[in-house]
Amino acid sequence: MPINNFSIHNKDTYYNRAKKEGYRARSVYKIQEIHHKFNIFKRAFYILDIGCAPGSWLQIAKEQAIKNLKKYDDQYYSRNEYKIMGIDIKHVTPIESIEIIQSNITDTDIKKRIIDYFDDKLDLILSDASIKKRGDKFTDHLNQIRLCYEILNLTKLILKKKGILVLKCFQGSDFKIFFDDFKKEFHITKSYKPKASKKKSNEIYLIGIKKK
Ligand SMILES: C[S@@+](CC[C@H](N)C(=O)[O-])C[C@H]1O[C@@H](n2cnc3c(N)ncnc32)[C@H](O)[C@@H]1O
Repeated sequence: MPINNFSIHNKDTYYNRAKKEGYRARSVYKIQEIHHKFNIFKRAFYILDIGCAPGSWLQIAKEQAIKNLKKYDDQYYSRNEYKIMGIDIKHVTPIESIEIIQSNITDTDIKKRIIDYFDDKLDLILSDASIKKRGDKFTDHLNQIRLCYEILNLTKLILKKKGILVLKCFQGSDFKIFFDDFKKEFHITKSYKPKASKKKSNEIYLIGIKKK
């Protein structure tokens, strides 16, 4: 029996579940798993999502930020508002109370726009950004590593001290070199492949906790 896109999607439980639960993409379950494991949204009020289209991570970020506003109203660390910004090369259908910018994260003026928006209070950066794959695994890997370096360098400038970064990377020859550089910027670092990641995919998420 021929396998077409419909039957592939039909077999993908995460895809079906996301549709049913009103999320824009199956990748929503990746960020949920990462949160359950590493508690990344704890006291996160100001959140940047890089490579945010179509927007399922933004949906979760908003849910969590609203919960935090209600949950953390104490002397240690609370805010009276949340701020979420999503950036993607592609158009993203608007979400109420979220700032969405259609831009490449490597554009020169983007850094200033982020800093102006969050001041120096950015708690959490999420990046699910992935390069457009061309089919050659080696070249794709190197291009993704290049993008990861861009995002890591940006993080050094815009993420608050003790903030958290979640970054999608691709495994391959230069992964260890990149992860070693990533480790230098945080007190705690982890790598994690969520169950919701497709088995054949070489994607892996790096979690940097407590930026130095
Ligand atoms: C896997 S999708 C993100 C899915 C998203 N987390 C969600 O759950 O809805 C990866 C996105 O990264 C974006 N992207 C790739 N390179 C980028 C770049 N340099 N700047 C901004 N966005 C980029 C792509 O356009 C694509 O929409």
